[in-house]
Amino acid sequence: KSESTLSMTVVGASGDLAKKKIFPALFALFYEDCLPEHFIVFGYARSKMTDEELRNMISKTLTCRIDKRENCGDKMEEFLQRCFYHSGQYGSEENFSELDKRLKEKEGGRIPKRLFYLSIPPNIFVDVVRCASRCASSADGWTRVIVEKPFGRDTESSAELTRCLKQYLTEDQIFRIDHYLGKELVENLSVLRFSNLVFEPLWSRNYIRNVQLIFSEDFGIEGRGGYFDHYGIIRDIMQNHLLQILALFAMEPPVSLDAEDIRNEKVKVLRSMRPLKIDDIVVGQYKGHSKGGKFYPAYIDDPTVPKDSITPTFAAAALFIDNARWDGVPFLMKAGKALHTTRAEIRVQFRHVPGNLYKRNFGTDLDKATNELVIRVQPNEAIYLKINNKVPGLGMRLDRSDLNLLYKARYPREIPDAYERLLLDAIEGERRLFIRSDELDAAWGIFTPLLKELEEKKISPELYPYGSRGPVGAHYLAAKHNVRWGDLSGEES
Ligand code: BG6
Repeated sequence: KSESTLSMTVVGASGDLAKKKIFPALFALFYEDCLPEHFIVFGYARSKMTDEELRNMISKTLTCRIDKRENCGDKMEEFLQRCFYHSGQYGSEENFSELDKRLKEKEGGRIPKRLFYLSIPPNIFVDVVRCASRCASSADGWTRVIVEKPFGRDTESSAELTRCLKQYLTEDQIFRIDHYLGKELVENLSVLRFSNLVFEPLWSRNYIRNVQLIFSEDFGIEGRGGYFDHYGIIRDIMQNHLLQILALFAMEPPVSLDAEDIRNEKVKVLRSMRPLKIDDIVVGQYKGHSKGGKFYPAYIDDPTVPKDSITPTFAAAALFIDNARWDGVPFLMKAGKALHTTRAEIRVQFRHVPGNLYKRNFGTDLDKATNELVIRVQPNEAIYLKINNKVPGLGMRLDRSDLNLLYKARYPREIPDAYERLLLDAIEGERRLFIRSDELDAAWGIFTPLLKELEEKKISPELYPYGSRGPVGAHYLAAKHNVRWGDLSGEES
């Protein structure tokens, strides 16, 4: 029999993230029997709500996996019975002491293991952490706090946030989430590289011509301007999600799979990167566009966005890692909202085959003959390698084919949401997928000078129509580094 109770307090329980991601992920873990026997959830927010009302709210967003529907209703009911609500102010120690009392009641005298999930705006992070650590932390178990970005807006504000959090918490208690690290194919990156002989030897400037990290969404800001306009796409996607993928992709082999060993290697890569300059970047913002009789509004048409906003909703950047492995290899990033497609992928373009015997079969464009490895993070997860192949028959005609690992076909089970893995790791104290403060600092170091310059010079973004491929400037930027975005055989990503 377990001697402890795990409690998860979701601070900001009525917010979007909590409803859409956190409660459903907790339920999925519960359903899969990944949570301890004694496990409770508390919602904490300002609005008045009863336990029953919280349960009602949560129940609307819980789902069962398609391949696991049996007992779904019963399991949901069991889960909801473990959910409670406490209403209070975010900066009130008194309210957190009341929460502590209620937590103790439910913990039933067992050793408390307390996890707080801060699903709240960053300006109240520190208040909540102060109150939680002073009045509601575990006396003889452990207390951990999960925080979501934004972790500041630049090097200074991020360092200040870390400094303030560390008045109340140790580094080991802080779990900074980047949910892209919980995505199946991002986790798989290291497996692909380090457990297959055929990739790691090619993983360097000797064989790789460029690497592309692409994120696009086919929808706009849709009411999230209050947050987004203050940050923009570079801070929203590049400085964290794409840069994290880059670090995992490019790091040296870690000593072990231990969290500190992996994070040490990630920090090293980040610290070897050149800070971005204004010439290394193109920024864009979407404008209104009519298509098929429907009007798609501009970014600045959104009621939550100021009419004169120059916040980028698109950015393309060329980054370089100044170390022996990657010297001179462009890492191109592209991230945008309101583009023609929704996709996240890593594309690796290899060099030409030296003295290619089959050169004349490719015409003048040898680029068309280069191998490309694509890791499609979402949607429709896949890993495929573009190779040259002989078209069967008596002649000698070559074409490009894919060695294709399509997850849907190979692994029919539904892939867990990133939050499930991350929450489970936080519960188990596994820090590998969370961002350490020196890592965060190094990440900001790459972007901060550029962000400041963009803002000081009030650089206007290049406008692109809603639903398009983004501003043309992105192509010029790539061309400057001898890169073509997307599939070299013609189809563009
Ligand atoms: C968030 C960003 O971190 O990631 C959002 O703030 C973005 O702007 C989201 O839409 C994308 O996440 P996912 O998992 O839907 O690709």
